[in-house]
Amino acid sequence: MRIAISTGGGDAPGLNAVIRAAVMSAIDRGWHVLGIKRGYMGLLGEDEVLPLTADSVRGIAHLGGTILRTTNRGNPFHYPVRQSDGTYREVDRSDELIENARNLGIEAFITIGGDGSLAIAQRLFEKGVRIVGVPKTIDNDVSGTITTFGFDTAVTTAMEAIDKLHTTASSHDRVLVLEVMGRDCGFIALHSGVSGQAHVILIPEIAFDIDKVCAHIMQRDAQGKKFAIVVVAEGVPFEGEQGSLGESMPGQARRVGGVADRIAKAIQARTGKECRSLVLGHLQRGGMPTGYDRLLATRFGGAATEAVANAKWGHMVALQTPHIVPIPIVEALQAPKRVDPTHDIVRTARRIGISFGD
Ligand code: F6P
Repeated sequence: MRIAISTGGGDAPGLNAVIRAAVMSAIDRGWHVLGIKRGYMGLLGEDEVLPLTADSVRGIAHLGGTILRTTNRGNPFHYPVRQSDGTYREVDRSDELIENARNLGIEAFITIGGDGSLAIAQRLFEKGVRIVGVPKTIDNDVSGTITTFGFDTAVTTAMEAIDKLHTTASSHDRVLVLEVMGRDCGFIALHSGVSGQAHVILIPEIAFDIDKVCAHIMQRDAQGKKFAIVVVAEGVPFEGEQGSLGESMPGQARRVGGVADRIAKAIQARTGKECRSLVLGHLQRGGMPTGYDRLLATRFGGAATEAVANAKWGHMVALQTPHIVPIPIVEALQAPKRVDPTHDIVRTARRIGISFGD
């Protein structure tokens, strides 16, 4: 058996642990493993395809990033091609990809990626490709799995940032607004905000009123608590629109963000309190995976090899505690996972005095 592994979309801490576990468990079965560089680009003549051996994956499980590198601009069904006038047009290169894989003797794929990469996997599966998915996202927005690796690391990074903001905010009697990742969902904001003891958490799943946010901050102020930490998910709409951090590259999703600055300015204007904002950004994607993420990633890698052995084509591995199970990718893609506003974590936050501005 000859299988190929690829990583696609934004990187997440734990990717290397998945790669290592998948390679080692495939070698254990006597299979040969190839690594496709930069999503599927290695199979489209834009990068390389290389053998993955026990030597190539030695000592990588604790490293962030991905030894295979990644891209969020390489959808083979909508591949951006630069033309002589500098504009881009999209072409479907999926047949070329399948043909190149066949020529390399690739019999099955393990693709590690988020909703975008899993949607590509589903389309390849529908074209007859034998493919198994491993869900990856720091945002935790893939349905069908209780969580994904990378999320715990991102939450830990954001929580540590909140810890540090407490001391400077309280020293200066300031309001500090921290923007965290998550695209259209609020899991990172919610989990880091509660574990870091923020005073206000704003997430896309709970509509907020800026006057209520300010009232909460001024209520604290009246009690002698002159500072406040506001954690906001990057995708939160404010004054009717979701912000953008600037132009995305051709073939890439829209870059959401910039809302923290707008909220900080609004709070300052309404309360007269000194406000500052910061965007935590890609720090949340970097660094070593936590023990939880490393373990989950390792289990996912082993389970992906098992799914290939069991011919679970078109399936992805998922954590359904206490088991890792294969589920149809199409099921996971039906609806993205979002924070349930009635969830215990939200209720716990309210009980300990955290405001959602609603
Ligand atoms: O989906 C993961 C994610 O980190 C989002 O939280 C964020 O909006 C996006 O990727 C950033 O993507 P890029 O690295 O292309 O700026």
